[in-house]
Parts: sequence; C-alpha cells; structure tokens
Amino acid sequence: MDDIDLAEPHLLSWLATVGLDAHYVRAEGDHLYRLDDEGREIPVVDFAGGYGSLMLGHNHPDILACAREMLDHQAPVHAQFSRHPYAKRLAAELNAIVRRETESDEMYSVIFANSGAEAVEVAVKHAELDRVMKVAELRQEIAANIDAARAAVAAGEVSVSGEAAIAAGLDTTDFASLAARISEVNEARATTPPLLFALEGGFHGKLMGSVQLTHNAAYRNPFAALGTSVRFVAPVDISALPKIFDEERVDLLDLAVTGSEITVVCRPLPLFCAFVLEPVQGEGGIRALDARSAEQIQAACARVDCPVVVDEVQSGMGRTGTFLASSAVGLRGDYYALSKSLGGGLAKTAVMLARSSRYRPEFELVHSSTFAKDIFSTTIALKVLELLEADGGVAYARAAERGAYILDMLRSVQRDFPDVVADVRGRGLMLGLEFHDQSASAIPAVRRHAEGGTFGYAVAGTLLERHRVRTFPTASAPNTLRFEPSIHIGDAEVAQLEAGLRDVCAGLRAQDAAALVDH
Ligand code: F0G
Repeated sequence: MDDIDLAEPHLLSWLATVGLDAHYVRAEGDHLYRLDDEGREIPVVDFAGGYGSLMLGHNHPDILACAREMLDHQAPVHAQFSRHPYAKRLAAELNAIVRRETESDEMYSVIFANSGAEAVEVAVKHAELDRVMKVAELRQEIAANIDAARAAVAAGEVSVSGEAAIAAGLDTTDFASLAARISEVNEARATTPPLLFALEGGFHGKLMGSVQLTHNAAYRNPFAALGTSVRFVAPVDISALPKIFDEERVDLLDLAVTGSEITVVCRPLPLFCAFVLEPVQGEGGIRALDARSAEQIQAACARVDCPVVVDEVQSGMGRTGTFLASSAVGLRGDYYALSKSLGGGLAKTAVMLARSSRYRPEFELVHSSTFAKDIFSTTIALKVLELLEADGGVAYARAAERGAYILDMLRSVQRDFPDVVADVRGRGLMLGLEFHDQSASAIPAVRRHAEGGTFGYAVAGTLLERHRVRTFPTASAPNTLRFEPSIHIGDAEVAQLEAGLRDVCAGLRAQDAAALVDH
C-alpha cells in the first residue's frame, strides 16, 4: 500500500517528464535545498519564490522567531467569535499603508481570508451584497414615489401626463394602470443578473467563483456552469468601456411629480457587480497595466458605479517597488485583495480591503471562515508589514533596485539573443522573459514542447538540472519565464540565472539537440 501515490500522482508524473519533480528538504532565504545521492545538500536558487509569496525569502529568521514565540506560549490559534486585537492592529496597519500610497484619508474595512482566490471571492461577494442592497434600496425609493404620486392623484392635485403613459407603453392615463405597469416592468428588470468584468489574460484563482474571473479557458470552461459569466475585456477595448457599459444599461421606471403632472423617470439599475483586475498580470505573462488604461477603467467604472477590485495577491506587498502595484499607476481600488507574501513565507493568509463608502457591516454576519483572522497568521502578517515598513520602507526601494538589476541582466540576454528572446518585461521583482515561439525548431524535443505548450517548463527543467536555478513559466503564457525572488536576492544568484539563460539561448540558437534536457 505504501508505494501507491494518491496525492496528485498525475501531476507529479508530468513534472517528471520535464525534470521538475524535485524533492526539497530545506529552504532558507532565496535557496531551496535538495539532497544528492550521498545525502549532501545541493542549493537551488529560487526565482519562482512561491509564485510571488516570498518577498522576505524562505524561513526569514525574524518571522521564524515570531512563529516560535507564539507556539512556545500556546497562542490561541482557534478562538473564533471572540476579540482579535491582533487582527484589529493588522487592519489599522494596512489602512495606514494603503491610505499613504493612495494619498487618501478614506478608511478601508478588512475581511480576513486564507488564500488569494478566497480574498478575490470575498471582494466579489461583498460587492454583490452591496449591489443587491442598492437594488432593494432603489426599489423601496420607487415604491415610496409611487405611493406619493397615488396620494397626489387621489387629492386631485396631479394627473398622469400623456408622455408618462407613452413612456410606460400604455394607451391610457389611468394612474392604477400606470402603477401596475411600472411594478410589472421593474419586477422583471430588477432580477437582471449582475455584470462582472475582468481583463483578458487575467488570473484571479481557481475556486468555483474565482475561476469564472480567470481568463484561461482551460481552467475556466469546464466549470462555467457553476458560476456567473464574466465579460473579458481586451486591452484594445479598454478605451471603449463607456460604450460597452452603456450597451449593458438597464433602467427601472420611477414616477416623479412635476408641477401638476406625473412623469415617468428612468433610474439606472445597479447592475455592475465588479471589475476585477491585476495591476500587473502574473500568471497571465507578467503584463503591467499602464497608467492610461488604469485611468480609463477607473473613470468608466466610476460613471456606472461599478466597483474596481484590485487583485494585488501577487503584485502587492511591495513586490513591484511600492506596497501596491496599482498605486504606481494611479489606480484606486474600491476593493483590494492581498495574500501570498502577507504570510511571510510561513503562514497561509489573505485579506480583502473594502472602501468604507461601500462597506456593508451586514457582510460580517453572513460571511465567515474557520481559519481566517487567527492569531498565528495575523501576527506573522504584522511582522511582515513591520519588516517591509522598517527604515522608511527601504524594502520597497530594495525591491525596485534588485528588480532593475535583474531586468538589466535580462535585457542584456535579449540584446545578445534577439532571435531567441522575444521580450523582457515587468516591474520591481515581478519580471518575465518571453521566448520566441519554438514550434519551427529543428530540434524535435523542442518542437514537441512548443507545440504542446510545455516549452517554458522544459526550459525550467533544464535550468534546474544544469544550473540549479528554479523558476517556472507563467502557466497561461507558457513561453514566458517568471522571476520573483526575495528582496535579498544577491548578485551571485542573478549571475547564476544569467549563466543558465545564456546556456539555453545558445543551445536553442545553435539548434543543438541537447539545448534542453530531454526526459
Ligand atoms: N490572484 C492572483 C493575481 C494570483 O496570482 C493568484 C495565484 C491568485 C489570485 C490565487 O491565489 O493560489 O492563493 O488561491 N497565483 C498563482 C500563480 C497560482 O501561478 O501566479 P491562491
């Protein structure tokens, strides 16, 4: 029974085909360690960084000490439905940072979660609760206006205008018929499904709700029946958002008393649930949103009261050189999702921040999580923020400096191998190198990987085996390798990556059959 692997054996067998089925026994800083045949540790420099979860590296000593302190003092990890002063402090600290970076004094309420996808789903759930409550509030307002008009008609003060009858599609100015028609129309329109928008190439998780927002069809299509359909916006269509939104508009009918006449007024139905986006797309290929697009999205969404959910799960926590990647392009979220590095490489945690002007306290009574907001992950998150904010936020400057250093190296590789490297992009320590399509390679193995969408993984396996460098492609853009090390990444490790990349590029250029390790 022992040799049967029931823990995702299919994935592991596939990892073995590209040489990525490594077993790591220890991790520290920017290194993972595997054992050689004699049991000696072999250091592997980690540029995958837990998909962006290791701003401070593996097993940071201060974070380890923080964890040990809690464990040694029997911290009450499971204390649901009680006071959580550490959560209150974390919410306050996050607010101070976000308000500083967005140059705003508006508060954000914080809901805790356990993963990135969960934080995104909590944001969309809250946005939908807010929308549903707004629809109910609008309908109550309309009902009150109808009652007021009915009273005015009964008092002989007003009468139904001909335009009102026409607007309601009636051939009578009888008030009762008008009121009945308005109620009938509004009843049908009020249940129009919510509209959700996301960007093409976006990745927001693979849970039942968040996968609907993830553009990659392979991840999303099998589960489409389980969730609300999302409209994906191409970068080229961002400038057309006002028109796209106008085409989706649905109005409820309302009555107004103007002088001695009753008129029909159109009231936009709160239809727009959320526009979810990453300021720098990670899994979709390291693609940064430019300031102009950010401004256009922000303005179009504000016009129709569509909240913007800024997914900073991967780009946040200082990775791009500012705490929020979105603040660097002037994008202000109605909601933020943060996770990955918030857990300091040790804890699983996430938060959703909701702008106070949109916050619905009722949400706290209809949403919960067993593990979220616990003392262990929350205290570690506080230690992470302390380390990031120390010495005036030198960590963010270091992320920018280290990122620029690595970007310079990647650009030098691109300059020397323009026939192999198509693009280098990213910001801070969220970087990508895109290879040209290798489907026409003279090397059968390379052609096979290119055609099968596994070329980036084959390169990653080669870098691991030959150069002890760990990285992965961005899964939805498999020709793009991603580089997301910690702020402590050293010049020697960058040189190790450079040597590996140059080795692979030279082999691909020479159409050398041994360019990639073939498993
Ligand atoms: N949002 C973004 C922007 C992400 O990059 C991820 C995960 C998630 C949400 C989901 O977070 O895995 O904790 O549920 N990104 C990984 C990647 C999977 O490959 O970049 P999760």
